[in-house]
Amino acid sequence: MNIAIDGPAGAGKSTIAKRVAKELGSVYIDTGAMYRALGLYMLQHGIAPSDEAGVLAALPLVDISLAYTDGTQHVILNGEDVSHLIRTEEVSSAASVISSYPLVREKLVELQQKLAAKTPSVMDGRDIGTVVLPDAELKIYLTASPETRAERRYKELVEKAGGEAISLTVEEIADDIRTRDERDMNRAASPLRQAEDAVCIDSSFLTIDEVTAQILRLAAERSGKS
Ligand code: DC
Repeated sequence: MNIAIDGPAGAGKSTIAKRVAKELGSVYIDTGAMYRALGLYMLQHGIAPSDEAGVLAALPLVDISLAYTDGTQHVILNGEDVSHLIRTEEVSSAASVISSYPLVREKLVELQQKLAAKTPSVMDGRDIGTVVLPDAELKIYLTASPETRAERRYKELVEKAGGEAISLTVEEIADDIRTRDERDMNRAASPLRQAEDAVCIDSSFLTIDEVTAQILRLAAERSGKS
């Protein structure tokens, strides 16, 4: 069974998708990490993400793959594990810009479809239910209010900084989230939207356990095991 989880930045997709995959013994595929790796490559090579021609010219030089150790996904960019390097705000923004280019999407969608064809997967992203896996047995559209998403991201960054104060305020993070939502939802190529047959879950007032349980219940129903 393939499960597609789409939704805006910070809705909790990756945390939930990882948990669901673990419970079901499926592979978790984080497609945002692939766009991030490509964005990182451009930044490392002095190619401005807004320079579409430059980004497309570099595409054939980039090899992205996923590797798993003890169930944890690692993103490999031209042979190097970049899993930690892709989690900065700069890379988030570069990924959001380059993901609007149709040829970038074509390359990564093909890779994602090949991965899902090999093994039962829980895949998260923006266009999984609409484009990558239109036949997924279960599609979830996971969302939360921009305020909730900004607060979660703020807490995550403070935790990462070992409890130290960070330079960004919750309002600045909320602004960044709104900019990314706007770009992800309004681009011409595969904009973020809820697939017609997706179940929408608003996680603003739900715990991780509650959302996970809801998805597992739906998965059991779909596979006839409930
Ligand atoms: O989920 P994330 O924040 O790691 O994704 C990074 C960027 O990549 C995000 O701005 C949108 C883009 N993306 C996309 O366009 N399609 C996907 N399937 C996954 C991510």
